Amino acid sequence: MSPVSVRVPAKINLCLGVGPVRDDGYHPLATVYQAVDLHDEVRAVVREDDAITVTVHSDVDARSEVAVVPVDDDNLAVRAARLLRDRTGVSAGVDLAIRKVIPVAGGMAGGSADAAASLVACNEAWGTGLARPALEVLAGQLGSDVPFLLHGGNAVGGGRGETVSPVLARGSYHWVFAMAHEGLSTKAVFAEFDRINEGRTVAEPAVPDALLAALRAGDAEALGDALSNDLTEAALSLRPELEDTLSIGIEAGALGAILSGSGPTALFLASDEQHSLDIAFALTSAAGCADVVQSRGPVPGARLI
Ligand code: C5P
Repeated sequence: MSPVSVRVPAKINLCLGVGPVRDDGYHPLATVYQAVDLHDEVRAVVREDDAITVTVHSDVDARSEVAVVPVDDDNLAVRAARLLRDRTGVSAGVDLAIRKVIPVAGGMAGGSADAAASLVACNEAWGTGLARPALEVLAGQLGSDVPFLLHGGNAVGGGRGETVSPVLARGSYHWVFAMAHEGLSTKAVFAEFDRINEGRTVAEPAVPDALLAALRAGDAEALGDALSNDLTEAALSLRPELEDTLSIGIEAGALGAILSGSGPTALFLASDEQHSLDIAFALTSAAGCADVVQSRGPVPGARLI
């Protein structure tokens, strides 16, 4: 059986508005996602028996975090394959091999990206032929960020993050990402958000008009000013040293600096390639920074290669 490979990007949130916790434990979000040029790859090979297996490896020496990715049924790529199989009645199994570049527990949706890639790869490998809208429904059941990673580009995210709608945007943006030595649990950061906001009134979230205007105009400077993240206080409370990382990037002249999603990856907007190199160089001196990566966005979502 010939292998099927899928390339899938990481996501960042250009804004992340978080509302009061819902009865189901999730938080309503108003976000603008952007898919960025930092890709995992998932390769699927059909098995004759019904086992679903996964292996994970990384070429990124600076980060040894791959060891913390589960390789059992808790792995999101395995859960994606299992969900697709349950919905389509396929009897075959699959061997999944994940090549990880996206940081683990970094606030860039690495696990969700692998789930999106697994859906696309298994749909092709098993010949189940589900169309994108049907895959998006399964994606939403796997995690809040998974539908966007099928979609890619720029998109507004609503609901708990799983409803995505296109946004009018132009321009390609230069990003620098500062990866931390150790990941942060998304669940823990949202729990800290609730703890901090106990007794306060949390407003329903909205996407700032200034951010949408900056994207429509393709104006990097205005976009830098409009970046925002309601999880900042919670993530900094759990990881105070991230404040230093953000300050170093701002001092190096970044157009904007925020945490990516629930952190701990910090992201910095640059005006061009040289500027991005200067910021990356400054960040290599940050104590809390395990790895610095230059990237571009937007890029397409999960695609067969
Ligand atoms: O959807 P996903 O499984 O990626 O979310 C991981 C965890 O993050 C959830 O279990 C929940 O605790 C928290 N979360 C949340 N509100 C959201 C998205 C995630 O509270 N909108």
